[in-house]
Amino acid sequence: MEKILIATHNINKVEEIKDILKNKDITFLTLDDIGYKNEVIEDGKTYFENALKKAKEISINTGYITIADDSGLEVEALGGRPGLYSQRYSGKGNLGNIKLLLKELKNIDNRNARFYASVVMYFKNDKYISSDGEIKGKIIDEMKGDKGFGYDPIFYLEEYNMTMGQISKELKNEISHRAKAFKKLWQIYEDSLDI
Ligand code: IMP
Repeated sequence: MEKILIATHNINKVEEIKDILKNKDITFLTLDDIGYKNEVIEDGKTYFENALKKAKEISINTGYITIADDSGLEVEALGGRPGLYSQRYSGKGNLGNIKLLLKELKNIDNRNARFYASVVMYFKNDKYISSDGEIKGKIIDEMKGDKGFGYDPIFYLEEYNMTMGQISKELKNEISHRAKAFKKLWQIYEDSLDI
């Protein structure tokens, strides 16, 4: 069976990606599975640049077809911040990020936001396919739910009257930015096999 490497050290993301791509006739390996420890410096100007850099560098170093994603939270009233810097936003971890965001949004009525993900699957010799996905929501002041990760507990989905931290993992992996990006990517991959 073909083996494809998922290039992220984030355990939450690995679990989501494996769930999104379940029932495929492929073995998905993680960086931990192969003991890959090198960090890729994410210094791109876009999510796509970062995803391509990660997928390419790790594919070249390991010889595996490699999938990488780069994602972030964009808040309209903050001109799209924290965006590319979502993970490092406060420098104080996840809870610190949420606290800083809510502080920045104090007395601001516009709570529109989106999660965005760019994904790249790198084959070899600069051959790759890519895709992206988004989900829109609103930032609420109170953390709700203990599922998901990152900013999920303050990302409110009007359609479900719940935060991304409250919906089931099955639902998140149907509707999220990452789910949309990976499902589209897989379609492109399968279509390319038909040629
Ligand atoms: P990266 O894609 O590993 O650079 O990290 C993106 C950061 O954006 C994460 O560490 C989270 O802070 C945030 N993020 C991305 N996707 C999600 C999600 O599905 N839920 C909550 N936060 C997310």
